[in-house]
Amino acid sequence: MEMNDFKGQAVFVAGGSSGINLGIAKAFAARGASVAIVSRSSERVAGAVAELRALALPGARIEGYSADVRDAEAIAAALAQAHAAIGDFDVLISGAAGNFVAPALGMSAKGFRTVIDIDLNGTFHVLRGAHEFLRKPGASVISISAPQAYNPTMYQAHVCAAKAGVDMLTRVLAMEWGPQGIRVNSIVPGPIGDTEGVRRLAPTPEAQMRMAATVPLRRMGTTQEIADMALFLSSGRAQFVTGAVIPVDGGSSLHGGRDLGAAVAMQ
Ligand code: COA
Ligand code: NAP
Repeated sequence: MEMNDFKGQAVFVAGGSSGINLGIAKAFAARGASVAIVSRSSERVAGAVAELRALALPGARIEGYSADVRDAEAIAAALAQAHAAIGDFDVLISGAAGNFVAPALGMSAKGFRTVIDIDLNGTFHVLRGAHEFLRKPGASVISISAPQAYNPTMYQAHVCAAKAGVDMLTRVLAMEWGPQGIRVNSIVPGPIGDTEGVRRLAPTPEAQMRMAATVPLRRMGTTQEIADMALFLSSGRAQFVTGAVIPVDGGSSLHGGRDLGAAVAMQ
């Protein structure tokens, strides 16, 4: 499969109704794939489905479902409905996530658990639930991780713990599912402009400028740049790549998390 042709393929995107994940869904839809997305808000799903249908090529199907990745049964039902509509998944993206900025002592047990439940348990529910519907051999499974997975970052204890777990799931499932011809990788976006993730860590234009200044390439990334890596990983050009945790971050991963901690602390 070349990077520009996903005609006849089926793509499922968890958390696909906005931001980076919607950008990935759009990239596959524009290249001919049938795409199914799931997130909690039915309004957001309907809006994203309309955007995706406007891009879709003739013959492709676009479907949307409302479910919470914390609810394994609801996600299993959405996966089954999507499978009935678009067939075996060639590409599975797990990108639903939640974040807020708080010191560990400012988080209740429920606050910590909420992010672990969405990011880590939710990823397990999506990947585990989708396994029976993945194309074997051939499927490309991608979890959307975050730099917090390997950069200890102040006020992000929940996200650091959750995304480190996500990347370990990537590595373990790459080994367990490799013999079936399923590849499992993580993409680690750096700060991506005009996204909810950045707005939560850097709510003001000044804070966003400080954040961009910490990136070796001195700018934030774009959703298209993350989508490009998802296309590459799912293309014929990446068929020997599995278990990889790949930063797409302008070099941010080279200098640890203290700068982000400082940026948050200065707000
Ligand atoms: N500081 C400390 N605790 C916080 C908090 C904050 N800023 N924001 C939420 N929490 C806590 C809540 O207080 C609650 O715990 P409590 O009942 O013991 O007080 C717990 O987190 C759950 O909050 P709730 O609002 O009920 O959760 P939810 O399931 O409705 O929403 C969130 C989940 C909190 C992660 C919400 O921000 C969300 O839905 N985010 C999705 C979008 C997003 O984060 N995008 C960026 C992705 S990187
Ligand atoms: P976003 O726009 O808030 O996207 C999050 C998506 O997940 C939304 O579609 C949301 O829709 C869905 N979602 C949230 N909680 C859910 C749940 N419990 N069940 C089902 N769906 C849920 O955020 P974003 O900034 O684009 O981030 C997308 C991904 O990139 C995340 O995994 C994030 O950790 C990662 N990331 C982002 C950045 C960045 O710079 N933005 C950097 C590094 C990593 P609903 O509200 O409808 O559920």
